[in-house]
Amino acid sequence: MRKQWQVLAAAAAAVGVGSLWRQQVRQQKAQAAMPAFNVRYGPWAIVTGAARAEGLGYGFARHLAGRQINLVLVDILADELEARAAELRRNYLVKVKPVALDLGQPDFISRLLAETDGLKIGLLICNHMFTPADTPAILDMPLEIHHRMLDINARAYTTLVHTYGRQMQANRRGGIILVSSGAGLRGTAYTGAYSANKAFQFMLGESLWYELLGTGVDVLVLAPGLTRTQGDALDGYPAFMLMDVDPVIAETLQNLGRKHVVIPGLVNKAFDVMTGRLMSRRRAVLTTGDMMARGLSK
Ligand SMILES: NC(=O)c1ccc[n+]([C@@H]2O[C@H](COP(=O)([O-])OP(=O)(O)OC[C@H]3O[C@@H](n4cnc5c(N)ncnc54)[C@H](OP(=O)(O)O)[C@@H]3O)[C@@H](O)[C@H]2O)c1
Repeated sequence: MRKQWQVLAAAAAAVGVGSLWRQQVRQQKAQAAMPAFNVRYGPWAIVTGAARAEGLGYGFARHLAGRQINLVLVDILADELEARAAELRRNYLVKVKPVALDLGQPDFISRLLAETDGLKIGLLICNHMFTPADTPAILDMPLEIHHRMLDINARAYTTLVHTYGRQMQANRRGGIILVSSGAGLRGTAYTGAYSANKAFQFMLGESLWYELLGTGVDVLVLAPGLTRTQGDALDGYPAFMLMDVDPVIAETLQNLGRKHVVIPGLVNKAFDVMTGRLMSRRRAVLTTGDMMARGLSK
């Protein structure tokens, strides 16, 4: 009897290994058949919110420049943007166009279209965001700030995706990455307006992914957890919960055209399984709220 079990276990293991191996071979074949990243998503990419040296936007810009893609960098911080552009030109020998813009202004797209006229945009990364640093509760935040957040985080994302997405659809080629957040997956107290904006971006991107399937335009939503981009602002959280910028970017770019959502890193994935599948939604909102209250000393 024991022997039969051993034979069965060995057979199951062999089937498992065989199926993993077949998956691996299929993936390698698919990768080999894909054109190089810069052929697929170049020659120019737009990255918004790319001015801060420690930010995710500049992380994307560095990784794309490393793949020889030219860059249009957009941000509200004009001087920082010029400095980042100079670093990228010097280190990677790519063309970089810094465009200082307030993406909360209703007419920003006409300026950006003028700046990108004649450039073949193969990749759009919507990464910018605005949220008040003191993370007020929803009703404590002035209504004008709620409205400005909607303009920057929802209206501008829609305008960018609509404008450049249509160009890509017409060219039957390209990629769009929307940088949302784990906070967009469930209500997150003390950053409630941000959480709502991030949920908007998440649903916009996920739906667009489906609508553009088979058109040659790949869409991916990135939902990072806590990432070391904010100096000491995240020091109140346990260090194991924080990710560095580079692994977030590497996992995202590697999965463009393969997955439609990336929740980067093991800790964030585990947190998502815990709050999204093992807990009730109410319990998940309570747990996340308590974590935010502790981390932000509310
Ligand atoms: N870091 C994290 O823990 C984390 C976690 C989940 C998701 N994310 C997401 O990742 C993305 C990048 O965040 P980050 O942490 O790397 O922060 P970041 O470096 O501050 O990036 C956001 C950039 O957008 C700029 N911006 C703000 N308002 C703008 C406007 N009206 N027009 C143009 N640019 C504007 C910001 O300038 P100012 O600094 O002057 O506002 C900043 O340079 C964001 O979408 C964020 O929600 C971050």
